[in-house]
Amino acid sequence: MRSEPPAEVLDALAARGLTGVLEPARRVGGDALARLGRELAALDWDTLDRQRRALAAGAPEPQEGLEPPELAPPSTEDRPEVRAAAERGWQALADGRVALCTVAGGQASRLGFDGPKGAFPLGPVTGASLFQILAGQVRRLRERTGAALPWIIQTGPGNHEQTRRFFARRSFFGLGRDSVRFVCQGTLPALAPDGGLLLAAPDRLFRNPDGHGGFYRALAAAGVFAELRAAGIDLLHYSQVDNPLARLGDPVFLGLHLAAGAEMSVKVVEKTEPGEKVGLVARVGGRLRCIEYSDLPEELAAARAEDGLLRFRAGNIAIHVFDLAFAERMAGEGLDLHLARKKVRALAADLEPVERDGVKFETFVFDALPRAERAVVQLCRREEEFAPVKNRTGNDSIATSRRALVARARAWWRAAGGDGEPAEGPFEIFPGVAYDAADLAAERPGLGLRCGGRVVDRRGDR
Ligand code: UD1
Repeated sequence: MRSEPPAEVLDALAARGLTGVLEPARRVGGDALARLGRELAALDWDTLDRQRRALAAGAPEPQEGLEPPELAPPSTEDRPEVRAAAERGWQALADGRVALCTVAGGQASRLGFDGPKGAFPLGPVTGASLFQILAGQVRRLRERTGAALPWIIQTGPGNHEQTRRFFARRSFFGLGRDSVRFVCQGTLPALAPDGGLLLAAPDRLFRNPDGHGGFYRALAAAGVFAELRAAGIDLLHYSQVDNPLARLGDPVFLGLHLAAGAEMSVKVVEKTEPGEKVGLVARVGGRLRCIEYSDLPEELAAARAEDGLLRFRAGNIAIHVFDLAFAERMAGEGLDLHLARKKVRALAADLEPVERDGVKFETFVFDALPRAERAVVQLCRREEEFAPVKNRTGNDSIATSRRALVARARAWWRAAGGDGEPAEGPFEIFPGVAYDAADLAAERPGLGLRCGGRVVDRRGDR
């Protein structure tokens, strides 16, 4: 049986000189052509045209006229504007205006972990997974505010089902199945260097995940914007699954964003050294922008200010607040495309899969920043908010992230007047016991230490 693709698909392919992509399916026969036709009928041709234009345009121009951004103070600083922001943010949370979002669609390949990265057991004493640590924050924030605060987790095609199963097996960490929403990011077709479509099989295009920038469109496609708006939510707090110190729904950050009437905001830390693998937040032509570390020219990365510090040191930690309407607008407008030239395993003319040159396309969430009318850049204290797990060893590794969790737990425990913790070795505040240092101090009378150095709530099983 040979069923030709719909006329619109044939026209769209012909207009772009791409009809050759149907040949392998015609040759193998059976349902192959019908299946490929269905996939092509669902293709976003505008995005494909943008991909082909980006490929023809080549590398983007290096950035010029960079200026450091203005920085709002850390959430932990005792200053009137921070206190005012905290009050405003707690109110927004208590009014149920906020959804918490975590992107977890990546493949954890640098970590060498076989499973969703969020399933990695990071807790220094408890072995709690990254997801459990973040779930603890969500739960505590809900307890503190009495608000529903839905948690949206972006997965990828490679880990969506595994992630859902992981949560189901752990009873959603006590959060209530309906309050955690999994949204799978989309894919983009990879192209041959000449702009042609590549095939993974005669009946299937070669595709790759569309990057964390797929977040906006994934939410739109799953109908999440409409659901959230109907629930009275107009703010999204966004962070990455690989950062266990992320302060989900940070009231101060939310309050600063609201006070500035911002559309999108970003948290930064001071870069430790020119080569640190974090994006750089800077002003370019009056607009804020995040320049990915791999795109930052070395002389700009290494430039020093008069005081000897790095001139450009606002390192993106990938924590944002978005106005819901702004995020929805980004889903409609589409983001810039980043190209990666790679070897891919795709069909050759003789229908055999071979390693061949390909171009993969991705989008990045932070590329929305220059589109925001107003944006807040908040400086954070690294030891309070940023210790990502990226690598097995070395920088940003399992060991450095665990050390940061232990150091922060000790600092909070001591500030709360706690004692008796082991002088050395692992120490952990059980996920969900406290939202921040002040919360731990307030809860201190009900808390106790259990074996191995873990702070738990004596009144309940947590
Ligand atoms: C990222 C940022 C960088 C920032 C750093 C902070 C990019 C391109 N750069 O770098 O500016 O300073 O984090 O830690 O992101 N993800 C998806 N879908 C994907 C790809 C990734 O959901 O298709 C998620 C991952 O699960 C992870 C996060 O996005 O939670 C970051 O991805 P990763 O590729 O590790 O980014 P980095 O290069 O570390």
